[in-house]
Amino acid sequence: MSKPNIKSLDMMKFTAMTPTREEKISKAPAKKLPELKSYKANELAAALHPTVQHLVVAEVIDAAPDVKTFVLKADAEAGTKALAYFSAGQYLSLSLKIGESTITRPYSLSSSPKEALEGKYMLTIKRAGEGLASNFILDNWKVGEKVTASAPLGVFTYEPLRDAKTIIGLAGGSGITPFRSLAKAIADGDEDAKLILLYGSRTLEDAVFEAEFKELEKNCDKFKLVNVLSDAEAEGCEHGFITADLIKKYAPAGEDYSIFMCGPQAMYNFADKEIATLGIRRKFVRHELFGEYRNPEKDADFPKGKEGKYTLSVKMAGKEFTIPCTSEESLLVAMERAGITAPAQCRSGVCGYCHSQLLKGDVYVPKSVDGRRLADLQFGYIHPCITFPVSDVSIDVPPARTV
Ligand code: FES
Repeated sequence: MSKPNIKSLDMMKFTAMTPTREEKISKAPAKKLPELKSYKANELAAALHPTVQHLVVAEVIDAAPDVKTFVLKADAEAGTKALAYFSAGQYLSLSLKIGESTITRPYSLSSSPKEALEGKYMLTIKRAGEGLASNFILDNWKVGEKVTASAPLGVFTYEPLRDAKTIIGLAGGSGITPFRSLAKAIADGDEDAKLILLYGSRTLEDAVFEAEFKELEKNCDKFKLVNVLSDAEAEGCEHGFITADLIKKYAPAGEDYSIFMCGPQAMYNFADKEIATLGIRRKFVRHELFGEYRNPEKDADFPKGKEGKYTLSVKMAGKEFTIPCTSEESLLVAMERAGITAPAQCRSGVCGYCHSQLLKGDVYVPKSVDGRRLADLQFGYIHPCITFPVSDVSIDVPPARTV
């Protein structure tokens, strides 16, 4: 039998169906169709992917020194009846009004998907030296605080078709939060994987969720925790940093494994070099975003002598703003400082939500986070969240949607 060939198909064959369709339409009752909103599929889509979620802080828990867990519930009064379901590893983009500026910040959900069905989200936030938003939240959020958040976003999730059955999790600092969600999801039977978590902290006192992880370990044979302490030694813990040798020590022998990594930029710089020596296939190494890119001027390929203060012109929704900017801060941060509400979600050059056009000027985009396509490069599109000015710059930015 000869193979079907697209060229042999009669592309106009569908025109023969027109009379049948017209006949059916003429015989159809003249009843008005139900509103689109009333379709079950649309109801489900709106519940899973709301444009905005109105939440309220229900509880504040001290999780470790300078770390708090905020338990959030749906704010029915403000219009959110139930929390959107999510996959372990996803984040919420919070919209925060700090002074005159409205900024967004992504925070990984530390709660499990099952807990969302039970009516709560949890965000675990650590005080950070330069963390404008984290410090603001820790200092200001109390029980009853109203919070505006996006739907759950992000792709730092377990995908059985792509990932190996065993995950080696590398966590540093507040990068532990998505792993709490994943460990719980595995224990709840919502993810069919095994997680071996190498968690880097300075001391055991700095390790968040320690007691809870120990309890999970007892009750779930698919989860194992290894504390890796850089500044202290403790029984049952590793001492030093997360190296290739340490990964090999805990990885399953002779089996594929995926590495999931979430932590500060410095940890990625170190761990990436270690992982490169393991010869693991690229698809088995996954990074969560680490948020704001810092110190671009220290990069080896940063344009020499271009550090300095510049002027940024922003066109947005028919308006034009001229504001100061510097080569050490992203164009997004410059806009937020000036009180311009620009679109942003991941703040790491991944989601594409801040996609804007560079009209004039020179910019530096760090290679390690530049996820632009060829067409973006050709037509001058940038992601302001990871773009740094190295001359006076003019950009055209789409207006921000609700979150
Ligand atoms: S906010 Fe996601 S790419 Fe800029």
